[in-house]
Amino acid sequence: MHPIKVYTMNEVDSIFSSFSSWRGHREGLPKSTAVFFVPTMGALHQGHGSLIKSAREMAPEGAEVVVSVFVNPTQFNDTADFEAYPSTVDSDVDLAFSAGASSLVFPQAHELYPKGVPDEAEPTDYGTLTRLWEGEHRPGHFDGVVAVVRSLFHQVGPDWAFFGEKDWQQLAVIETMVRDLNLDISVHRVPLVREPDGLAMSSRNRNLTAEERQKALSLSRSLEDAKEKISQGTTAASQLKQSIKDRITAESGMQIDYISICDPISLQEIEEVKGRTLIALAVKIGSSRLIDNCIVED
Ligand code: PAJ
Repeated sequence: MHPIKVYTMNEVDSIFSSFSSWRGHREGLPKSTAVFFVPTMGALHQGHGSLIKSAREMAPEGAEVVVSVFVNPTQFNDTADFEAYPSTVDSDVDLAFSAGASSLVFPQAHELYPKGVPDEAEPTDYGTLTRLWEGEHRPGHFDGVVAVVRSLFHQVGPDWAFFGEKDWQQLAVIETMVRDLNLDISVHRVPLVREPDGLAMSSRNRNLTAEERQKALSLSRSLEDAKEKISQGTTAASQLKQSIKDRITAESGMQIDYISICDPISLQEIEEVKGRTLIALAVKIGSSRLIDNCIVED
């Protein structure tokens, strides 16, 4: 049995079950209060914690650091993945407030989708940015991300919004959306946070079996290998990709969706590693899908 969490009065006053109730609280703050926003889908871990801490560190005194938790149906191309998405409300509350949040909002679906949650979000096409990698392997995923983040921004009206480099492509898409819609919001990038053994933190890691968890280490290890090879002079992307693939296959037999070696801004594939380069990959393991990436500076 899980112990029952007893909420403190401070927590009770700072948790909102809709954006409209959060806005009521916002209206009680001075008009000039800056709003720092961290959108999440919950099942919070130290990766999310790092976003909230960055927001708190950058926020001037008295600023509002608001975290939202909404598992957005339109960005899941796979219903089973949506249904299996973990939910850990009590520990989310602890983590959010201890990392420095001033408010935690659990929005109502109709606030984000006033016409009802569509089966598919309206398409967004930012060329290769939305078409490759996650766009290719999870059709409709970025349509859902763009739809919900646009709506979240509309509800919160933040000055700053925080996103993690764990989802490198998502960050590139959101930065493009902010420019495209001419929004007056500064997007702050936060580095990827790993478990002590190297596995990239992810809410989905909770769904891994002990054996899958062990196999999943081949992702970060193969990226570390590639970094090492680059530092020793290997620059051919095809050779590096092959060695990542070989290691993942030999250690885990996981199905690889993609391995990309590319320019970190345009995400265009490169043939030779020169200067700042992104290596990004995605695999399927059992019923889960994992992504990881790293930056190498040649
Ligand atoms: P979620 O997966 O909950 O992630 C929320 C934010 O935390 C994202 O910006 C993500 O990149 C960041 N994050 C997750 N794991 C991280 C890690 N290990 N290190 C650093 N940052 C990490 O991403 C989403 O939710 C959704 O797509 C969302 C933007 C909320 C829209 O629904």
